[in-house]
Amino acid sequence: MRTGGVSRTFNPVLLSQKARGYTTPVMKKTENKSQTSLHNESTSTPSLRETYQLGSLGTTLRAALASREARSIKRRLPEPSVLGKQSLIDFTSNDYLSLSTSPLLRTRFLQKITAKDRVQILGSAGSRLLVNPDAHDRLERRLENVLSRPSRNEFDTPQVGILFNSGFDANMSFFTCIPQPGDVIILDEYIHASVWDGVRASRLAQDCVKTFEHNSIESIRTVLDRLLNVIPSDTRSASIAERLHSGSSSLFVAVESLYSMDGTLAPLREINKLLSQLFPRKNAYLIVDEAHATGIYGPPSRPGCGRVSQLGLDGGLGSHVGVTMREMDDGEECRVLARLHTFGKALAGSGAILLTTPLLTSYLINYARPLIYTTALAHPNVVLVDSAFDLMVEGETEQLSTHLLALSAHLANLLQTELEKARISPEIVCLPPHLLSPTLSRNLESSSLSSNDHHDISSPLLSSSSSSPLHPPTPIMPLLTPHPRPLSAFLLALGMNARPITWPTVPRGKERVRVCLHSGNTKKDVEALVSGVVEWARGWTEQIEEKKEKNVVVVDSLQTQSKL
Ligand SMILES: Cc1ncc(COP(=O)(O)O)c(C=O)c1O
Repeated sequence: MRTGGVSRTFNPVLLSQKARGYTTPVMKKTENKSQTSLHNESTSTPSLRETYQLGSLGTTLRAALASREARSIKRRLPEPSVLGKQSLIDFTSNDYLSLSTSPLLRTRFLQKITAKDRVQILGSAGSRLLVNPDAHDRLERRLENVLSRPSRNEFDTPQVGILFNSGFDANMSFFTCIPQPGDVIILDEYIHASVWDGVRASRLAQDCVKTFEHNSIESIRTVLDRLLNVIPSDTRSASIAERLHSGSSSLFVAVESLYSMDGTLAPLREINKLLSQLFPRKNAYLIVDEAHATGIYGPPSRPGCGRVSQLGLDGGLGSHVGVTMREMDDGEECRVLARLHTFGKALAGSGAILLTTPLLTSYLINYARPLIYTTALAHPNVVLVDSAFDLMVEGETEQLSTHLLALSAHLANLLQTELEKARISPEIVCLPPHLLSPTLSRNLESSSLSSNDHHDISSPLLSSSSSSPLHPPTPIMPLLTPHPRPLSAFLLALGMNARPITWPTVPRGKERVRVCLHSGNTKKDVEALVSGVVEWARGWTEQIEEKKEKNVVVVDSLQTQSKL
């Protein structure tokens, strides 16, 4: 799949040469300067007029941006582009199923939005608490049914859906409002910024918020052990432990089912089991953000409904997990209190639905400010999401996700093989351990442990104890490299758009080029990506070798001179 925008503005041959020299490609200025100049303007040279108008505020803001510029971490909007224009291969958008350019979805949407019996097609006319459009209510009721397993007995709590204008708003709302003073929350260290912001705005004390190592069951167990075991000398921790034991406080565990920067899948069943075991009073809850998994994973009967459904955790809080007697005998119950499905990624819309219990929904309607004090999603968006779910329910998206995951497996295998063949050091570029075959993973581990030089880039990855060499394919693949900008620039020069991700989006030492695959990508696209990465890595390695040789010559001549 190709996206437009930059193609108009660069000469691939020229840029390819530049990229081979490992400089950032220089874009030719677009004809319409006003479109881009605002975002790309240098911050180190404030205009006199702006400095005069903004006074000390301008000085402070400019200093902050100049500091980011100096550290090469200043964010900018990319060049304006149009998804689907045949120029750059898209390895960057979150349009995983390529639905934003799907003629099928477009037709369905246009049919629905122009249907004769549709009275309202524009806007939404206010907050949900002011006007409650029928289309919004119908979408919620529909998605409750589509996204959840039918309850099997009268004791199952029904799942209720409530729409938000964005996944960000939904996470902010949930984590700000639902955990009560005295409750405890533990977060995966890679959890999305919206969850962090919600927790920061919540009424939880600082010592009631803990993180655990990404996807590590051992780390969760350690954090929970510390929380549950009374330390006699520490009255504060003793009171937290007592409250959790007695059930007077609740524990929340926040995870993403598919992590956006690493492409790792959370061990949801294992976490669920652990919570069932450690909290017999049933006061521990799992909150799952399915933003990147929606539309891609699901049980065979309901493809695209997410990982929670795929793993049999969608029966509602407290229901027995899965359907087999053996699992019921284990006493494992569903601890998923809420899950979030967003519409802005694989479903080509925007907005989100949070599925949780009726009580929590009612509480959010009363207290969640991003739900109360905002205009509800506009009708075209609701109709678009409804159309995307049509395609999901009719099985149209299943073949798209099957192709997507097959491409991902192909990319991982081919890249690993080609990097090995070319003897590229993992210090230059490598796949993360969860995508490596066992042999390479072990080699990487021993090489990283024996060298302090590249400890920073490899050790945090290796410490991720979740990393299973047989990780299922996902559409997100980080290419780990301490040099993400030159690699991304090189790929761009070859007509491929894969963005560099650096601190503060990912932790220091975990820089990467993040590759997002799409159903619209072809095998050929993936093969072009692999050869581009290997070509860049070879050139980069040669450059390093040359530099080393020059240093040796200089040191040798200095030593010779000093002897003379
Ligand atoms: C894991 C995760 N959760 C939530 C969000 C926010 O969703 P939205 O884009 O609908 O605001 C994102 C978006 O980047 C995300 O990656």
